[in-house]
Amino acid sequence: MVSNVVALVLTLAVMLGTSWQVTVLAMVLLPVFLVPARRMGSKLADLRREAAEHNAAMGTQMTERFSAPGATLVKLFGRPADESREFAVRAGRVRDIGIRTAMLQFTFVTALTLVSALALALVYGLGGWYAITGQLAAGDVVVLALLLTRLYAPLTALSNARVEIMSALVSFERVFEILDLKPLIQQKPGAVPVPPGPVSVEFDDVRFAYPSADKVSLASLEEVSTLDTRGGEEVLHGISFRVEPGQTVALVGSSGAGKSTIAQLLARLYDVDSGAVRLGGSLPGSGLDLRDATFDSLRDTLGMVTQDGHLFHETIASNLRLARPDATEKDMWDVIRQARLETMIRSLPDGLETVVGERGYRLSGGERQRLTIARLLIAQPRVVILDEATAALDSTNEAAVQAALGAALEGRTAVVIAHRLSTIRAADAILVVEDGRIVERGTHTELLAADGRYAELYRTQFAEATAVAQEAVPEL
Ligand SMILES: Nc1ncnc2c1ncn2[C@@H]1O[C@H](COP(=O)(O)OP(=O)(O)O)[C@@H](O)[C@H]1O
Ligand SMILES: [Mg+2]
Repeated sequence: MVSNVVALVLTLAVMLGTSWQVTVLAMVLLPVFLVPARRMGSKLADLRREAAEHNAAMGTQMTERFSAPGATLVKLFGRPADESREFAVRAGRVRDIGIRTAMLQFTFVTALTLVSALALALVYGLGGWYAITGQLAAGDVVVLALLLTRLYAPLTALSNARVEIMSALVSFERVFEILDLKPLIQQKPGAVPVPPGPVSVEFDDVRFAYPSADKVSLASLEEVSTLDTRGGEEVLHGISFRVEPGQTVALVGSSGAGKSTIAQLLARLYDVDSGAVRLGGSLPGSGLDLRDATFDSLRDTLGMVTQDGHLFHETIASNLRLARPDATEKDMWDVIRQARLETMIRSLPDGLETVVGERGYRLSGGERQRLTIARLLIAQPRVVILDEATAALDSTNEAAVQAALGAALEGRTAVVIAHRLSTIRAADAILVVEDGRIVERGTHTELLAADGRYAELYRTQFAEATAVAQEAVPEL
């Protein structure tokens, strides 16, 4: 741009010095050309923005539909014709926009050539007449004509720069929108690490509602024009409990009661609305509030196995290294042994280098769960949160999963959302969660004797599950 501006100014100065009348005439055509160029710039930017939106939507659709679970769903319930039509409409629009953009640019360049040719004709016309009448030397006319081409070249470049900058701004808008989004959870200035040694966990009158959609995402990312600004309803209404170092607390309750929410708050995936979650401290209220702890120390202290047990489409080794990047091969085999996966992984041709995850080697539900437990173990967290996946419950794997869980819980402070009776029985305390409140607490025997909600849950859910598990074992 700088060199174009310099060229433009110098050329113009020399031309004006040679003959200002001819120069002014040559410049008369300038607005004819600049006004449409301006318009076209904004039009092109609009088109590019629309194309970017369509491309993003097609990308989302493809990633979702071509993932293994998505493809299965499409095969089972999908309407391939509808899906393909929807895709075709978008793809067609992107193609049309591509053609229109190319046509617009082509028209622009052609018009520009035409305008400069006309200007040249004017220069020769007026300049020629001046030369004949003796007001201008013939050489000067030639100089003016030559300089004119020098005038229009930088002009073209400058007006194209405008178009290019406007299109680039479209991409910048989207990038900055994301860069400017403030993360919901931030580390406080002056945050301190979690103190070393065994840690206790404490929930102190915790109330929590999930944040509204506009706080956690962007409308442009979700393909809706506006995001829901309503906050969710309060999900936890005053949860208080304490887990002493090395103890295990089991959370039970019907689905939707708020158990996973408690687990997520402990992992600081969200911040509480009132009350506090504290780590460490031998007396109630003396621990470190999660909001005052550094992210790094929280990550080192807490380990969580989530409900869906996601694995990346990477090798087993790199999935394990996610939890501890400097893990050696020996460390990996140690945790694999503890998770009862050694025989299975040794039997794979590529061993630790087997690619797992969605499009990789398909592990069974139980194996996948044990691998996520191995990933938890390798990080050696002091506090363990287990949100046991019901989906991965297969009775044939029960013993192996049980052993893996035993290794995960040994000597650690643990909050376990349990679906297995054996885990619940082994817990030091059981909390029954209903509708965001703890309605009962005690040990298995105490709660059964009390004959309340737990006894009811036990009769309807666990007793049955145990019967099924016991039936399945002899078949092995
Ligand atoms: N990300 C979320 N956004 C809004 N509401 C949620 C979210 N996750 C869960 N909920 C709601 O919070 C309540 C408790 O859910 P959850 O803790 O997952 O229950 P549980 O694990 O006990 O089955 C449910 O009513 C559920 O609809
Ligand atoms: Mg849950």
